[in-house]
Amino acid sequence: MDRIIVRGGNRLEGSVRASGSKNATLALMAAALLTDDEVVLRNVPRVRDVATMRQILAALGVPSDWEPDDEHALRIAGRGDRGRPIHPEAPYDLVRQMRASFLVLGPLLARCGIGRVSEPGGCAIGVRPVDQHLKGLEALGAKIRLDHGYVEATASHLEGARVNFDITTVNGTQNVMMAATLARGRTEIENAAREPEVTELATVLNAMGADVRGAGSDHIEIDGVASLHGTEHDVWADRIEVGTLLAAGMITGGSVSVTGVAPALLDATLEKLRETGAGIDVQADAVTVRAGGRGHGVKAVTAPYPGFPTDMQAQLMAVLALADGSSTITETVFEHRFMHVPELVRLGADITVDGRTAHVRGVGALSGAPVMATDLRASAGLLLAGLAADGETVVNRVYHIDRGYERIEEKLRRLGADIRREG
Ligand code: UD1
Repeated sequence: MDRIIVRGGNRLEGSVRASGSKNATLALMAAALLTDDEVVLRNVPRVRDVATMRQILAALGVPSDWEPDDEHALRIAGRGDRGRPIHPEAPYDLVRQMRASFLVLGPLLARCGIGRVSEPGGCAIGVRPVDQHLKGLEALGAKIRLDHGYVEATASHLEGARVNFDITTVNGTQNVMMAATLARGRTEIENAAREPEVTELATVLNAMGADVRGAGSDHIEIDGVASLHGTEHDVWADRIEVGTLLAAGMITGGSVSVTGVAPALLDATLEKLRETGAGIDVQADAVTVRAGGRGHGVKAVTAPYPGFPTDMQAQLMAVLALADGSSTITETVFEHRFMHVPELVRLGADITVDGRTAHVRGVGALSGAPVMATDLRASAGLLLAGLAADGETVVNRVYHIDRGYERIEEKLRRLGADIRREG
């Protein structure tokens, strides 16, 4: 099993290019199920979750291939010419690897009148139910049945409706939005998630011939159309990868530029890094961080967009573990998302958790040790801590990192980190 070995202490300096957004890509791949035509996505990150989604699409009867001349361009087959039937069932073995697999339910239902997706179940960062996805699809006329561990949604046709989410859910909003593009009449989603990945999906659906308005606000309107066609799209930068690389610059006392970025998407992350004392310089399509010493303690509360992203919480915690003074981080989006805390403590951090709030008292130094990655973003936090710790940190179970970061160790090495992967 791969592990990453970091020898901490090098200041990171230089410039790297952001990869495309993993989360946006997963939704866009699901959206390809809505058309008979080919969909070509460029700037797709070569990460494990994308590979899993390719396997799911293949299991549904929709193969995809990387373009021979562009390793980040993914061509997702249409089924029109070849008349391939969709097999509307996403199997347990794949769904259990990645909850975002549930995103195929809305498109399957809209295209085939039936979708069966294995129930995702609990996961390491909390219970994470899918009740809101189902509530939305039911409002559009789907009958939902739970059968042998599968969620089955059926409908002879979907009818536009008003969907009022009880909580903001990113994938729930995306799922219902995709189903509604092919429903009869108008769907109005209230309390929609405002994340850029929702906006990007709406942009691509509209390029495929859909009529989606208001994405990026909490009220989205969709007028159903009879069919969608293929499209090509360059995936926007991964705002969480960008934030992670900037945090790496900050925690090592260095200066890092990340290019290929729309800085507006990063507002809350940039604001928080600025508040800790980092110099942030925003250019048209790049962001530069210049660490101003250790930084100082701040108060952070994760919240749906445009709030501070829960996916940056572990990385911010690593930075604050070494800052001057005390910080609090309150996690409001996911329960149990503090599994990196005991591992950071093993590296010498002074952190205690009280319910949904972590109290971080900055220390002067961390000391390298073997640690265990527990989930995707937790592992990123551990890697950052390792970059700043004295001596060697071994991050085990890096398959978690590989789910969402494309060759992170190569990007960090290019910036001057002493880091290597061992198989
Ligand atoms: C997406 C992102 C994930 C990010 C999260 C929040 C993808 C693939 N993943 O996950 O990286 O951390 O948004 O920004 O895009 N909930 C329910 N019922 C539901 C759906 C959600 O109770 O039907 C709860 C969840 O348990 C959680 C909260 O709502 O507490 C937010 O979850 P949600 O926005 O749905 O996260 P995901 O879309 O799964």
